[in-house]
Amino acid sequence: MHEYEFDLIPPAAGTFTTAVALSTFTYLMMEIPELQEQLHNEISRNVGAATPSGEHRKSCALMEATILEILRFISHVPLNLPHYTLQDTSIGPYRIPKDTQVGCARVGCSGVV
Ligand code: HEM
Repeated sequence: MHEYEFDLIPPAAGTFTTAVALSTFTYLMMEIPELQEQLHNEISRNVGAATPSGEHRKSCALMEATILEILRFISHVPLNLPHYTLQDTSIGPYRIPKDTQVGCARVGCSGVV
């Protein structure tokens, strides 16, 4: 069981990403107290004493946008993981044969650099 878990979830996947996202969120709440107050009000208004669920995302637009912006800003896994093409394909003028290793520079997509 332990080996299976290790294969499925390498040490960095899920731990580093989640820790950095949460610590960046905490840091920004300290740096931008007005945003912290707006988020607090939004949660009090829309979630109140209920147990938060995925349904609350619809009514907590500022929280949703804040989380998405944090994930863009910290640009986790900047070059993604390597993938292979399953068939011949093309992107614009570039022909990419089957079994080519491809990567996605997510850091460029996020506009951080
Ligand atoms: C804020 C939290 C997280 C972020 C931003 C994040 C981001 C990513 C990204 C960008 C990739 C690469 C995807 C690709 O190249 O196709 C990835 C892969 C992966 N993540 Fe996460 N992740 C997060 C949390 C987690 C958690 C909680 C787990 C496990 C419990 C996890 C497990 C994995 C695994 C196993 C892969 C490899 C998937 C594969 O081989 O295709 N991640 N993650």
